[in-house]
Amino acid sequence: MPATVVVGTQWGDEGKGKLTDLLAKEMSVVVRYQGGHNAGHTIVVDGETFALQLVPSGVLYPHITPVIGNGVVVDPGVLLAEIDTLEAKGVDCSRLKVSGNAHLIMPYHQELDRVTERHLGKNKLGTTKRGIGPSYADKATRVGIRVQDLLDPKIFREKLDVAIKEKNLVLAKVYNRLPLSADEIAARYLDEYAPRMAPMIDDTVGFVHEALAAGQHVLLEGAQATFLDLDHGTYPYVTSSNPVAGGACTGSGVGPLHINRVIGIAKAYVTRVGSGPFPTELTDDVGELLVERGHEFGTNTGRRRRPGWFDAVMVRHAVRLNSLSEIALTKLDVLDALESVKVCVAYEADGRRFEHLPYHQSTLHKVTPVYSEMPGWRTDLSGATHVADLPDAARRYVEFLADQVGVPVKLVGVGPGREQFVHFVA
Ligand code: GDP
Ligand code: IMO
Ligand code: MG
Repeated sequence: MPATVVVGTQWGDEGKGKLTDLLAKEMSVVVRYQGGHNAGHTIVVDGETFALQLVPSGVLYPHITPVIGNGVVVDPGVLLAEIDTLEAKGVDCSRLKVSGNAHLIMPYHQELDRVTERHLGKNKLGTTKRGIGPSYADKATRVGIRVQDLLDPKIFREKLDVAIKEKNLVLAKVYNRLPLSADEIAARYLDEYAPRMAPMIDDTVGFVHEALAAGQHVLLEGAQATFLDLDHGTYPYVTSSNPVAGGACTGSGVGPLHINRVIGIAKAYVTRVGSGPFPTELTDDVGELLVERGHEFGTNTGRRRRPGWFDAVMVRHAVRLNSLSEIALTKLDVLDALESVKVCVAYEADGRRFEHLPYHQSTLHKVTPVYSEMPGWRTDLSGATHVADLPDAARRYVEFLADQVGVPVKLVGVGPGREQFVHFVA
């Protein structure tokens, strides 16, 4: 059976958790394919909020096998704490599988993330300081330690001794920090984490392929989003992995021909956490209203998200990069209070008009958005369950977005609750 990808089309926090949970009903397996606990995916069920960091969003359904794929970076302490929190709320996590090829986040990764950000001063990236970048850097330079190494204490210790020698030199000589103890790290990872992690560690590529061969539906859940992608995002203000749909293949071990549906998830406006260019950013009262009504504060870090108008140039680019077959649009209800709404349909810079994302980053930093303004609907959408429940102006807004980005909008979110969405075809 085929696989479906859920990918963020903006700068994250579009509602991937809610959409994955919604689709999981029809799936058998949900695989997280990249990122780490920089993600915060929220699901609201019967008024109860679940904020997931590493555990895939299908976990709430007993029929789903949640899988942490090889493309993810795993802090085992965080994962085990998340499992404990979920279990305390009555969620059974015993089916969770973790790829042995996923890389570990080590204490020196977090420390390096913190000190490098501090060192960058006003040029800081605004990372989540979770050690994501340093862990992926070690993977690329081939000094990373993988989840499967937890099962072999001798290999784990050898790799740790090699890595920590260099990390401690950098921490001490470049950043004037105290060295970390390999003995303490080994004790924590091997004595505390490894015994609990061992039953979850598996050949997830083999497992997912057996599921596909048995006719089961597999959902590949992205974290972060297209414009935080290491290759395609607003570099260097990006994360250190590939959230784009191509990353779903490398991060799960599923080849492209297995994927027949790629759902891009977009907010009805845009938010961004951390530094970097943001053409449609709003620093006025309308922006404040979006932050307040949309509760735009980081799921994990609590940071205020920067708000802006929907940017069709970006999502048009996301359609290309991800082969999007459709869009799920979230948080339409947040715009309920506005007299009028704007959509960025193109950019202008240096006397030129750009319908597509300018290739050079310096251009993106200085573009002026070209807006189409439309009437608002001033109606509470939170109870809408059918397209017919949407006022004409809201329907026209969604139709306009679909037309602008070039793929259909099939779902529209009208509230955080699991059931608060409308099937839509525009
Ligand atoms: P993710 O990282 O993409 O999974 O998104 P987050 O969970 O970080 O942020 C999305 C936020 O919006 C969460 O608080 C969700 O509960 C909430 N949310 C999702 N869909 C909707 C919607 O359609 N309307 C409203 N008002 N909130 C939504
Ligand atoms: P979800 O999956 C929004 C941002 C950080 C920072 C940049 C790099 O919930 O959508 P990192 O710690 O990854 O090295 O930080 O990426 N960022 C996110 N922004 N949602 C996320 O995840 C994010 N994960 C990372 O704020 O700007
Ligand atoms: Mg989030």
